Amino acid sequence: MPKVTYVLPDQTERTIEVPEGESVMESSVRNNLPGILAECGGNCSCATCHVHVDPEWRHLFTEPTDEERELLEFAEGVQEGSRLACQLIMRDACDGVRVTAVAD
Ligand code: FES
Repeated sequence: MPKVTYVLPDQTERTIEVPEGESVMESSVRNNLPGILAECGGNCSCATCHVHVDPEWRHLFTEPTDEERELLEFAEGVQEGSRLACQLIMRDACDGVRVTAVAD
C-alpha cells in the first residue's frame, strides 16, 4: 500500500499507509491528523485542505482542475507546489509522497 508522509503544523512528520483511490485529505482526516481541516468534506469548495507537495512527486498526480486553481488563488500561503489534498488521489506510483499541511 502506498505511503504518504504528512508534515504537520508543529513540523513533526507522520507516515501513513493510504489505500489506492483514497485522497491525501481522506487519509489525514481518517487518522485524526491536525492541519487538514477539510471543512467541505472533499467537494473542492473550501481550500482548508491546502497542502504543499514536495517537487519530486508533483507530476504523479493529475493536473489541478480549473475549480481547484480558482480556489487556490484565494488561499493563503500559496506556492508552486500548492494543491488541495482532497484532489490528490493516491495510487501505487505515489508511494513516498511528502505533503506539508498549510495551516491558515
Ligand atoms: S476538503 Fe474542501 S476543498 Fe478540499
